[in-house]
Amino acid sequence: MKKLNYVLAALIILFFLIQLIPVNRVNPEFDVEFELEAPVKVKEIIVNSCFDCHSNQTDWPWYSYVAPVSWFVVNHVNEGREHINFSEWLLQIEEKREKIKEEMIEEIEEGEMPLPGYLMMHSVAELTDDQLLVLKTWAFAKADSI
Ligand code: HEC
Repeated sequence: MKKLNYVLAALIILFFLIQLIPVNRVNPEFDVEFELEAPVKVKEIIVNSCFDCHSNQTDWPWYSYVAPVSWFVVNHVNEGREHINFSEWLLQIEEKREKIKEEMIEEIEEGEMPLPGYLMMHSVAELTDDQLLVLKTWAFAKADSI
C-alpha cells in the first residue's frame, strides 16, 4: 500500500512538472487577402470543421493547455497547417488548390477528417450529408453553381 502511495505521489509530481515544459501554441499572423476564397456556405463549413487545424486561426481548447494532451494538439495543428493552411489558401497555385479540394472530399468520405479524436471533443465539427454535398459541389463543379 505504501509503495502505491509513492508511485501515485511521483505521478502527481510528474504531472505538475510536465506542465512547465513550454508548448508552442501560436496563431501565426496572416494576411486576409490570401484567405480561403469560397462561397459563404462552403466557407462556413470549412471554418466550422477544419479551421482549428488547417488555418492560422486556431481556437485553442482548454485541453490544449494541459500536458501531455497539449503536445498532441499542437502537433496536430502544426502538421495540419503544413498539409493545408486555409489562411494562406491563395498563395497556392490554382492547380494545387483544385487538387487539395479533391483530397478534402476523399479524406472526409473515408472518415479520416476531421480527425476522429477531435470529433470526440467537437461533435459540431462532424459533417452532415448536406454539408458534404455542398463541399462536393464546390470541389467538383464550378464554385458559382452553389
Ligand atoms: C484536429 C485537427 C484536424 C482537423 C480538425 C482537421 N484536420 Fe485535416 N489534417 C490534420 C493532420 C494532423 C493532418 C496531417 C496528417 C494526416 O494526414 O493524418 C491532416 C491532413 C489533411 C489532409 C491531407 C491528407 C494527406 O494525406 O495529404 C487533408 C486533405 C485534410 N487534412 C482535410 C481536412 C478537412 C477537409 C477538414 C475539415 C473537414 C480537416 N482536415 C480537419 C488535422 C486535422
